[in-house]
Amino acid sequence: MKKIIIGDHIVKSFGVKDDQRNVLDGVSVEINEGEFVAIMGPSGSGKSTLMFALSGMDSLTNGRVIFEGMDLTEIGEKELSEIRRIKMGFIFQQPTMLKYLNIIDNIVLPSMRNNRKNAPKIAEKARKLMRRVGIGDFEKRDITQVSGGQLQRAGICRALMNNPKIIFGDEPTGALNSKSSEDIMDIFSEINMEGTALMLVTHDAKVAARSDRIMFMHDGKIVSELKLEKFNGKDIEDRINEVTVKMREVGI
Ligand SMILES: Nc1ncnc2c1ncn2[C@@H]1O[C@H](COP(=O)(O)OP(=O)(O)OP(=O)(O)O)[C@@H](O)[C@H]1O
Ligand SMILES: [Mg+2]
Repeated sequence: MKKIIIGDHIVKSFGVKDDQRNVLDGVSVEINEGEFVAIMGPSGSGKSTLMFALSGMDSLTNGRVIFEGMDLTEIGEKELSEIRRIKMGFIFQQPTMLKYLNIIDNIVLPSMRNNRKNAPKIAEKARKLMRRVGIGDFEKRDITQVSGGQLQRAGICRALMNNPKIIFGDEPTGALNSKSSEDIMDIFSEINMEGTALMLVTHDAKVAARSDRIMFMHDGKIVSELKLEKFNGKDIEDRINEVTVKMREVGI
C-alpha cells in the first residue's frame, strides 16, 4: 500500500530550557493513500499538535514528516504552503470564514489565489460542490445567515475545491448536533470512498466508527490502535460498540 504521509519519530516540545515538555514524544505514524484514520485521546494528549505537525502547519522539534515522498522538514515555507494549498484540505470545529465575504466567495477564495483567469470555472466547481453537500441555495448568503451545519458544509466545499489527496479535520463535527453531525459524516464517508484520505481528530465514537483505523493518544504518544473493516454503510451500531469498548479499555 502506498503511503501518503509518514511521521517519523516526531517530537514537539513547548516551553524553554528548564520548563520544556514534549507534547509529542516520539510519535511515528504512517497513513496510506485513501485511508481514513481517526485520532482519539483525552484533552491535552497532543491530537491537534500531531495534526499540525503531519500537515506541515507547525515545525517539529525533532523527527521528520514525509508527504508523498517529500521531506516537509527540509523544504521552504513557500513550497510548503503550496503543497498544503494544492494537496491538503483542512476543516476545523468552528469553520473559519471571512465575515465580509458571502458563502461562495469564502469557498472559492483559496482557489482564486494565483488563478483569477479561471474564475468562472472555479465558481462553477464551487456551485457543484455546494449542491452536492446540500447548500446549493445559499451561495449569496452571508456567513451569519446560515446554520452551524450549513457553515460546516461550506467549509467542506472549501477544503474540497482543489481535489486534495488528504483532508485533515480537527473535531469537524464537534460543534454540531447529532443529526447534522451524521449528515456531515455521510459526506466524509462519500469523499473517502472516492479515494481521498482523511485524518480526523474526534472524541465521538460515532465518527471514529466510520474510519479504517483509530489511533489512541495519551501524553504525546500513540498508545493503542484499532483497525476496522472498510466502512460500507452497514453495521454502524456494531462498529460503534467495538470503538466504545476499546475507548474504555484505553481509558478515554
Ligand atoms: N503553543 C503552545 N505552547 C505551549 N503549550 C502548548 C501549545 N500548544 C499546545 N500546547 C500544549 O500541548 C498539549 C497538547 O495540546 P493539543 O492541543 O495537541 O491537545 P489536544 O489533544 O488536541 O486536546 P483537545 O482535545 O483539548 O483539543 C496541551 O497540554 C497544550 O496545553
Ligand atoms: Mg485539540
